[in-house]
Amino acid sequence: MKKKILLVVAIVLIVIQFIHPTKNQQTNILDSDITKVRSVPDDVQQLLKTACYDCHSNNTVYPWYNNIQPVAWWLNKHVNNGKKQLNFSEFGAYDEKKAKHKLHELVETLEKNEMPLFSYTIIHKDAKLNDAQKKIIIDWAKANQ
Ligand code: HEC
Repeated sequence: MKKKILLVVAIVLIVIQFIHPTKNQQTNILDSDITKVRSVPDDVQQLLKTACYDCHSNNTVYPWYNNIQPVAWWLNKHVNNGKKQLNFSEFGAYDEKKAKHKLHELVETLEKNEMPLFSYTIIHKDAKLNDAQKKIIIDWAKANQ
């Protein structure tokens, strides 16, 4: 009985390796990109790219373990949920009220240390923001609200 269960689990694990969610990788920059509707200094953009863009833009840089299922589904869920809340690639599509609100939320998540997600910073050590880096982003977001 135990052997049968293990066999079934092994087969399921093998089969799901062939089912992959579509990757979030759009290389062209849309007219709605935040850089087209707000002025984003290089240092701010660099920080956002390193710490936020994997889940909040149309272009994720995937780690090698995205090739392993069910990990890819788990990562895909973060990217989809993250983009639903805030997408820097489509920021220009928000109306002004929503855009301001999103920048307000952004400040809040940084002040409360809610973003980037903790599970992400365990592996992406460079995404862990120090106080000076947080301040750069927060000052920019406040000036653009
Ligand atoms: C590993 C993926 C990931 C990374 C990296 C990430 N986020 Fe998020 N973010 C999410 C998800 C998922 C949500 C949806 C809410 C939730 O599940 O907590 C979210 C929600 C948000 C929200 C909306 C919060 C609210 O109040 O509803 C803001 C603002 C935000 N993130 C900003 C950022 C900023 C700024 C960074 C970079 C410093 C960042 N995030 C990095 C995944 C991520």
